[in-house]
Amino acid sequence: MIDASPAAVATRTQPAALPLQLSVVVPTFNERDNVELLFRKLETALAGMAWEVVFVDDNSPDGTWEVVRDMAQRDSRVRCLRRIGRRGLSGACIEGILASGAPFAAVMDADLQHDETQLTKMLSLLESNAADLVIGSRYIEGGSADSFNKQRAGISAFATQVAQKALKIEVADPMSGFFMIRRDRFEQLAPQLSTQGFKILLDVIATARGSLRIVEVPFTFGSRLHGESKLDSMVALDFLGLVLAKFSHDVLSLRFILFALVGSTGVVVHFVTLFVVLKVFEQPFAEAQGAAALVAMTSNFILNNFLTYRDQRLKGFAILRGLLLFYLVCGVGLLANVGVAFAVYNEHVTWWL
Ligand code: GDD
Ligand code: MN
Repeated sequence: MIDASPAAVATRTQPAALPLQLSVVVPTFNERDNVELLFRKLETALAGMAWEVVFVDDNSPDGTWEVVRDMAQRDSRVRCLRRIGRRGLSGACIEGILASGAPFAAVMDADLQHDETQLTKMLSLLESNAADLVIGSRYIEGGSADSFNKQRAGISAFATQVAQKALKIEVADPMSGFFMIRRDRFEQLAPQLSTQGFKILLDVIATARGSLRIVEVPFTFGSRLHGESKLDSMVALDFLGLVLAKFSHDVLSLRFILFALVGSTGVVVHFVTLFVVLKVFEQPFAEAQGAAALVAMTSNFILNNFLTYRDQRLKGFAILRGLLLFYLVCGVGLLANVGVAFAVYNEHVTWWL
């Protein structure tokens, strides 16, 4: 039955709210204690505007998504995107922006390290068409990253220089996690962006190859409120992979580079095992070659699971199932490998050939 009471009709025929001006995309992983406060800060900073905030949570063990879901129930400006079976800051930002509704999208950390009071200034630069991308920058006059310890400050400065030199980027802070972009321009670039890694902004700038008008506004990178940083040593590897991929004009992808890297360790593992089984345990060549292939396959699988496919890493029982499937697929290659090796060995009896 349709409720046609005057009250219901009145709400339904209410003039539509102002068209959305800004979407704020916030990737979260274990940020339960920060999200509510961030939302209240956004409410103050964006008062009088039509905005939404899209939290993209990778199924945080601390249940961040539950808190966000509760907020969304109370306030329709809040949206909760909960991803299952995937991890990664870049991928989360991409999905959040693509799911957002406003013509402009901002990306910021959930932990209150980014200065939400800069958002209106950033938005007016985009709305007045003075830029396509506005970056909250730590490394221009007026900005700072004083909350960094010496070590992280050094690494950040070094990585910034590598990116600037290798990719001919003139932006002072291409590694910032705080920026705002026209959504239509972002959508054009999105198919070429890597979902792996942390450096979504660097990827956007490098992929655009000078086609974006970029403006930087200074801000002070604050200290994290609750919880801890998710940046780990793997971030360095992701970063180098991204720089290489962009340097090669996307001929190489980050995943391909990692896959090749793992593959080459597999060759080493294979030869070491072959040598040990053959020379130390004095087993026949066929057995040694089979064992070496098995060990190499296993180490390849484990390393790929931890590195190449870190964003969709298998856990627990799924590892075993994946490994068995991997053996099965590799089995074909293995038979050929052992067969050829055997034939060559029978001819020459040179173990490494
Ligand atoms: N959905 C999702 N998935 N969110 C994530 C993930 C993930 O795998 N990893 C981190 N996040 C979220 C965090 O919850 C936080 O809101 C934001 O992404 C940034 O992560 P932090 O762990 O706070 O990173 P940071 O403060 O050390 O690094 C910041 O500064 C760097 C520049 O020095 C980030 O803004 C980086 O992007 C930036 O490069
Ligand atoms: Mn942070």
